[in-house]
Amino acid sequence: MKKYGPINKKYPHILHGGDYNPEQWTDYDGVWDDDIRLMKLANCNTMSIGIFSWATLEPEEDSFDFSFLDEIMEEFEKNNINAVLATPSGARPAWMSEKYPEVLRVNADRTKNLHGGRHNHCYTSPYYRLKTQNINRLLAQRYKNHPSLLVWHISNEYGGECHCELCQSAFRQWLKNKYDNNLDKLNHEYWTKFWSHTYTSWEQIESPSPLGENLVHALNLDWKRFVTYQTIDFMKNEIAPIKDITPDIPVTTNLMGLYTGLDYFKFKDAIDVVSWDNYPEWHLPKGDVRLASDTAFVHDLNRCIKGGKPFMLMESTPSHINWLDVNKPKRPNMHILSSVQAVAHGSDTVQYFQWRKSRGSCEKFCGAVVDHCGHENTRVFKEVARLGSMLDKLDDIVGTAVKSEVAVIYDWENRWAIDDLKGLKITDRNYAATCQNHYYPFWKNGINTDVIDSDCDFSKYKLIVAPMLYMIKPNVIEKIKEFVKNGGTIVFTYISGWVNENDLCFLGGFPADELKNVFGIWAEETDCLYIGESNLVELNTGEKYKAIDFCDIIHANTAEVLAKYKSDYYTDMPAVTFNKYGSGSAYYIAFRDEGDFMIDFYEKLILDLKLEKALDTTFPEGVTAHSRHDEECRYIFIENYNNFTRKFILPNNKYIDIITNVEALMEFSIEPYGVKVLKTM
Ligand code: GLA
Ligand code: ZN
Repeated sequence: MKKYGPINKKYPHILHGGDYNPEQWTDYDGVWDDDIRLMKLANCNTMSIGIFSWATLEPEEDSFDFSFLDEIMEEFEKNNINAVLATPSGARPAWMSEKYPEVLRVNADRTKNLHGGRHNHCYTSPYYRLKTQNINRLLAQRYKNHPSLLVWHISNEYGGECHCELCQSAFRQWLKNKYDNNLDKLNHEYWTKFWSHTYTSWEQIESPSPLGENLVHALNLDWKRFVTYQTIDFMKNEIAPIKDITPDIPVTTNLMGLYTGLDYFKFKDAIDVVSWDNYPEWHLPKGDVRLASDTAFVHDLNRCIKGGKPFMLMESTPSHINWLDVNKPKRPNMHILSSVQAVAHGSDTVQYFQWRKSRGSCEKFCGAVVDHCGHENTRVFKEVARLGSMLDKLDDIVGTAVKSEVAVIYDWENRWAIDDLKGLKITDRNYAATCQNHYYPFWKNGINTDVIDSDCDFSKYKLIVAPMLYMIKPNVIEKIKEFVKNGGTIVFTYISGWVNENDLCFLGGFPADELKNVFGIWAEETDCLYIGESNLVELNTGEKYKAIDFCDIIHANTAEVLAKYKSDYYTDMPAVTFNKYGSGSAYYIAFRDEGDFMIDFYEKLILDLKLEKALDTTFPEGVTAHSRHDEECRYIFIENYNNFTRKFILPNNKYIDIITNVEALMEFSIEPYGVKVLKTM
């Protein structure tokens, strides 16, 4: 038994394919037939279509032409290819901007955009909402019974914000709802007596702007919350006709990893399946190991948005991208490795941008399965085809779960507040990187990890790591108390528990309220270190580590001191503490380290808490493993992120290599960027 079904139950296989824009090729004789031939050769089964097709579908207002989609959908049906069918709202036809300028986006500096680019609509505009609903309804009506229709791809990478008058009034309405129509309440939470910022009417409130207000942190936070709310509201407006007409076809929208503009955890109830676009900058001179871990972190986060449900890797490149300074092709094997990595972390698809390189415009040199040469005799095509034949053997993995005993908290609202904070050190706050650094020791040791926000359920974990949890949202103190009292272990770091959800400081010492008792400490000051400066931290057991960037100066109340600072005016004050609370444990790491401490600290905790590894072994540097499971089996993915071969010894057990379907040798070599998928009972 598997915990989850396939993304769409009519196709219980791993989806493999990519963004396909056949409307760009209508003048190119025979290319569609050749595409189908190549899709089969590449072992692709699913194509995303219609993503930016609005101008083709509705060349003039209310005059529609679905012929290219009809034709392609028919080809797909004949050839057993699935369609991830997109709604076209990511970019709109020029006639629309010309006739209805309200659809044009207004920037924070109140300039109005011209037509062009993409993702530059006003998401409040009643006309744009009407038009997107209308075209979505027509698409759904037309293809509702089409056998190839598998998933709806709603818009494309929602992002950005609009500051037009329509958005201003929607924002004010949102604020009225949030503050129960009570302006005094808003003034209190915004602390507006400061600098005489008191509002005396709702109409005085404007979205943050470089021309006006941009230093009221609670206003900035509320604006960001509103942008998330309004984007989701726009998306729900798009989804409504689709769900009316095709209630059984799952909907998704492709997210952008750690994009700061939207709180992706808030999307969870509005979509059936999470999908995201993954473009790591592989092969930097520093090597791929840390990047692999940072990428895994984002995969895990996407899996956790819907509580662990398998997600879709909606976009990735088969080779290179075109928007970096150096757009390096993936080295041989890396495409297979990075794609299987997504599956290891819970993706049930491997999809690309893009199927075929376009002939013109700005993405013509963005990697594709089919290059401008137009045939299959390329290194990239062959690797895609090889991956496709591997994915064909992974049917058993579809719908299986990832079981994690550890969660790292990455919270968007906390990130917004930390980024906006005036004080400490303007540079090097690095909230996201800090969370990824705390995640790395688990990744390196082959330990499945969830990445959640502070609103998620804590109760299912043995260990929760909450780096730099500066903002403590409502109920979080209660949840932490419950979690630790009931035997959980929690790790906090410097700069934690300072403000509430509206950026008002907690009084009475940090971390907030009862957290002082959970951790048995209070934090008095935070030292900020220049680049190149450091402090020394010494454990009771003698090991020494370097502290950089931030050192909280804390007092132990009930906590046991595990390490102390060894220089400056806080010499011999606690740097790491441990406290018993109820039947659980709370650690406070008061300083930022360069990584060594974290590895040693968490490796000890892994042993103490007996956290389960994908394989009970010590992994060679740059090699790790992750697992998915159903009731009968565990599926283990062994990944080598080195550009050289590594020897690997399996712990005692019987493992079947799913790709070759033979029993795995206990000792084997894993090639550069190699990956193995094993199955064990
Ligand atoms: C994004 C978009 C795609 C394409 C790729 C290029 O992820 O969704 O349409 O522009 O980037 O890398
Ligand atoms: Zn607007």
